[in-house]
Amino acid sequence: MIDRPAWAEVNLSAVTRNVRYLKSLMSPGARLCAVVKADGYGHGAAGVSRAALAGGADRLAVAFAEEGIELRRQGITAPILVLGYTGPEGARRAVGWGLDVTVLSADNARLVSEAAVSLGRKARVHLKVDTGMSRLGIRPEEAPGAARAIAALPGLELEGVFSHFAASDAADPEFAREQLALYRSVLGRIEEAGLRIPLRHMANSGGLLFLPESRLDMARPGISVYGLRASSERESLAGLEPAMALRARVVQTRTVPAGTTVSYGRTFRASRTTRLAVLPLGYADGVFRSLSNRGSVGFPSGRAPIAGRICMDQCMADVTDLPEVREGDVAVFFGPGGPSAGEVADLLGTIDYEITCAVNKRVPRIYTEEETES
Ligand SMILES: Cc1ncc(COP(=O)(O)O)c(C=O)c1O
Repeated sequence: MIDRPAWAEVNLSAVTRNVRYLKSLMSPGARLCAVVKADGYGHGAAGVSRAALAGGADRLAVAFAEEGIELRRQGITAPILVLGYTGPEGARRAVGWGLDVTVLSADNARLVSEAAVSLGRKARVHLKVDTGMSRLGIRPEEAPGAARAIAALPGLELEGVFSHFAASDAADPEFAREQLALYRSVLGRIEEAGLRIPLRHMANSGGLLFLPESRLDMARPGISVYGLRASSERESLAGLEPAMALRARVVQTRTVPAGTTVSYGRTFRASRTTRLAVLPLGYADGVFRSLSNRGSVGFPSGRAPIAGRICMDQCMADVTDLPEVREGDVAVFFGPGGPSAGEVADLLGTIDYEITCAVNKRVPRIYTEEETES
């Protein structure tokens, strides 16, 4: 950290406030399940989980069992739902560590039941129904029969039936409404079969923010917990603050004459006497190489364009127009004080999610918390 001054600063108080805001949108008694998979969308799952729970999250969700186990090892005791596929070994580990498991069929649930019986434990499962994402989940017409079969398996509690939106953040909510209607009709048929499902959930960030009728018993927001946009089609940041800033100190400056080329491939040629700042972050850290000659970094006095190709561990910014920038000053690659993650995502033709998830593990996370939140 001292030798390589580059870090991702994560404001845990912002996460707590974001969750408090998201929870305030839910009806009294309804739950909030903060999605902290992929190491908390790159922010650091354990820290973010604690901050989310402090803001009123009731539960957490991860992609696969090992992610949940890591949180248990960090001392987190809140309910954790594994959202992705769980196979035989994963089922044993998930049940052993007290994780709730998503099941995709009665056969899949049987694995969890066998693990629960052999470990002498009760496992909570949530049946996932595919209502239009065409990813994981049981077909709607098969769901009522499977739900009955699952509810009869030993060692299991069928606590939830859920689905996932494909386009809850789209400008046109039509498809999301159709998915929700299909999900509701599946629930109706399950309930007609005499089963009571305590947790009905569908809403991701887009659903929670833009389709209030999808909030139901629980919402599963991810990206909004981190204060980022679910998509560029709907501005969703009212009430939310970005939690991460990627920063590095200027490690060297130099002034070069017009005509000098910068970095690999010599794609930047100085058109005037140019002052360059060398920054110790590169594409191996999650600064996308396709930002070469396109992106910019923020300094307190303004923006400096990235000059030349981004290298694996370093890049250069043109600070000619920011004469106050000195060695040791902090540049912001994204986050407060620089371009937003959304601005970088739009430039790259991607989504906010990928910007924070791309920040490599070798970049230290520095957590900040404001006094009033602790
Ligand atoms: C099943 C499921 N639920 C909820 C989420 C959270 O979605 P978002 O980050 O868009 O809020 C995800 C994320 O991909 C997911 O896969």
